[in-house]
Amino acid sequence: MNSPTPAEPGAARPVVAALVGCGGIARSQHLPNLTRAPNLRLAAVCDLNAEAARSAQADYGVPHMTTRFEDLLADPAIELIVVATKADFQVPLTCQALEAGKHVYVEKPLAETPAECRQVVAAQARHGKLVQVGFNRRFAPACREARRIAAGRGGPTNMYFRISDEYWNWGRGNPPGQRVIHEVCHVFDLLRWFAGSEAVSVYCASARADDEIYTLKFASGCVATVMSSGEVTCDLPKERMEIVTREPGALVLEEYTELRTYGCRGEPPLRRFAGHTHPDSEFTHKYLFEKLGAEALTAFRRLRWELREQQELGQLDPADAELKKFMEQSFPHVNYLVDKGWRAALEHLADCIRGKADFIGAGPRDALAASALARAAIESRTTGEVVRL
Ligand SMILES: NC(=O)c1ccc[n+]([C@@H]2O[C@H](COP(=O)([O-])OP(=O)(O)OC[C@H]3O[C@@H](n4cnc5c(N)ncnc54)[C@H](O)[C@@H]3O)[C@@H](O)[C@H]2O)c1
Repeated sequence: MNSPTPAEPGAARPVVAALVGCGGIARSQHLPNLTRAPNLRLAAVCDLNAEAARSAQADYGVPHMTTRFEDLLADPAIELIVVATKADFQVPLTCQALEAGKHVYVEKPLAETPAECRQVVAAQARHGKLVQVGFNRRFAPACREARRIAAGRGGPTNMYFRISDEYWNWGRGNPPGQRVIHEVCHVFDLLRWFAGSEAVSVYCASARADDEIYTLKFASGCVATVMSSGEVTCDLPKERMEIVTREPGALVLEEYTELRTYGCRGEPPLRRFAGHTHPDSEFTHKYLFEKLGAEALTAFRRLRWELREQQELGQLDPADAELKKFMEQSFPHVNYLVDKGWRAALEHLADCIRGKADFIGAGPRDALAASALARAAIESRTTGEVVRL
């Protein structure tokens, strides 16, 4: 494959990237972000499914498409490969890319087991390239601000995180009980990042599959509870975090749109964060999140839920073309309206590749730590005991 020859050498040159895996996360985030970030240039897309690669190429004006991953490896112009397949392929593809001298951005969970994550830790050590794992929430503006404030107050001592959704239906190919590996891994990473410390123990109490709580203790003394449920409703905001800081005070983060501070001298009691735009969608939500924060988010969720209720009850006029279009519109899903740092994470990696920033993203060792926590939580669920790490 002949990728376009890079423009003049130097730090200002965008990083030439390729994407493998043109499915859900690619279409909702990586394709729009890779084609809009000023420091990146998407040269090629790859998918085993030719139609998926072809439509990604056509929709985003990507110069090349292929169904053969080796084509990306063989192209010397490609510097970065973004891997967004599924956990079963992400480790071999990442290792091959590293061997071929490419930097890698790979989606979470890096793998389903700590042993597989270790393969990437070792491959990175051998080849010395950058590997960033898609724990993008570290780059959400609301999280960065909350972490800055918490760190300035002696760090967190007690954290609570709710991650709840309705979409987590395991008819999509994953067996029940694995939400902790595939979804809660984001939260384990975020809690480690906020605590600035490693978890030393975890306890899991399960109500039913994929509806449970985890209690963590960190080496720093900080404790955390995660409430995870794949059985909620889209009417409820998906993610909420509460933090008690060592110096008396607290922070509450509502789904990346709003950060409230309590008793934190010098900090405004409320900050709001604009949402995340997508070129295929309108952008009203971004303006509304900036102006109204969680209130706007809640209204978006309620609107979607109410319309779906009315649709199920046969109360919507099937001849209403406008409404039909709105209901069938797959993008943006409300979970993707907020800014969870997807684009900033990619832009950061490109800056690191050009030597403009020191790497502060999540690497393979962070993926390994999250994976070990998920496995320990499953062990605790089975034995009913606290598991020490
Ligand atoms: N960071 C986030 O917010 C976030 C959100 C959703 C999904 N994800 C992660 O992204 C990854 C992909 O999830 P998805 O929902 O997009 O999956 P998906 O099934 O919708 O898409 C995966 C695509 O990869 C292709 N593929 C699979 N194996 C391949 C291979 N060996 N070579 C080339 N193409 C291959 C498939 O044909 C498919 O088109 C998962 O690891 C998931 O956990 C991350």
